[in-house]
Amino acid sequence: MIFDSLMGAFSLDMGIDLGTCNTLVYVKDRGIVLNEPSVVAVAKGTNRVLRNGDAVGLVAKEMIGHTPENIEAIRPLKNGVISDFEITEAMLSYFIRRVQGRKHFVGPRVVIAVPSGITGVEKRAVFDSAERAGARRVYLLGEPMAAAIGAGLPVSEPTASMIVDVGGGTTEIAIISLAGISQSRSVRVAGDDFDAAIVGHLKRNYNMAIGDSMAEKIKIQVGSAAPFAESEPTMEVRGRDMISGLPRKTTITAGEIREALQDPVRQIIEAVTQTLEKAPAELSADLVDNGITMAGGSSQLRGLTLVLSNATGLTVKLADDPLTCVVRGTGVYLENLEMWKETMESDADEH
Ligand SMILES: Nc1ncnc2c1ncn2[C@@H]1O[C@H](COP(=O)(O)OP(=O)(O)O)[C@@H](O)[C@H]1O
Ligand SMILES: [Mg+2]
Repeated sequence: MIFDSLMGAFSLDMGIDLGTCNTLVYVKDRGIVLNEPSVVAVAKGTNRVLRNGDAVGLVAKEMIGHTPENIEAIRPLKNGVISDFEITEAMLSYFIRRVQGRKHFVGPRVVIAVPSGITGVEKRAVFDSAERAGARRVYLLGEPMAAAIGAGLPVSEPTASMIVDVGGGTTEIAIISLAGISQSRSVRVAGDDFDAAIVGHLKRNYNMAIGDSMAEKIKIQVGSAAPFAESEPTMEVRGRDMISGLPRKTTITAGEIREALQDPVRQIIEAVTQTLEKAPAELSADLVDNGITMAGGSSQLRGLTLVLSNATGLTVKLADDPLTCVVRGTGVYLENLEMWKETMESDADEH
């Protein structure tokens, strides 16, 4: 232990949010030093990462839709499962090395927040890739626990906290008390499904093909889960006419986009109410006072907190800076490793 903390002085300990959309890295005493899309460019049909492995993150994301035929931009964690181990490993080690630079001669201690639904084999793969990328010690932390810590919830106290983290590929729900997870659920419905619902809507109702990034723009600009208080905005959308094959534009309204989003929104709400139904009575009682806290990029969908509050009868608030909650949580965890290790046996798998 003394050896470890001595080593810490020479290494760059880091906390990583390995998200399905975005990967963020926090370094002790420095804060968030990296925030990039979880995207890797590969030679089409292969696992070969392009350009000596530096076509990762933003560089790779910008290639989407603009790539020559033989290049493909991949999101290796897209559905909250690791669809491709080799590419995930290439991405993780690229990010770790980039943050570490060449100056540090001692491997870092790394805390990685992973979707809580991943299997033992997938955990092992994340763990091994961090080690191969030079980590001296690796700790895996469940994403909802990391989000709750990052949101400043009193996770180690004898009262219940509830966190709902709506990301890109998954929604992670947990009720936490005394530093342990009492109830949790990970469902594969989140921001990507909002985008897909918008793509489907434009296809069905306008015979118009749009790309994922246009769908995301529509979602952020006029998407909602509850009606707007003021008048409902409209938006001009560009895409390709599916019959003539030619470029075309059309105007959509916030109301129709809300209707298109209804189904995935309902699935998220149901997952939350089902988790609440399973909670022990004492914890339910705590939640009457403590309410629900939301984190993750997609928790920012307009009206989502309101809809969730109506469905559960609880107060629902958005964490500060919901996109960085998880990585800030890994940072807090990292700074208090010794303390957490005693209290959080089950959630932080130390290997
Ligand atoms: N203002 C916003 N309104 C709705 N969705 C948003 C907004 N900003 C970002 N998002 C969505 O948040 C998701 C990414 O959130 P993030 O928490 O980084 O996901 P992950 O943890 O899975 O990597 C994407 O689907 C993105 O479109
Ligand atoms: Mg996340």
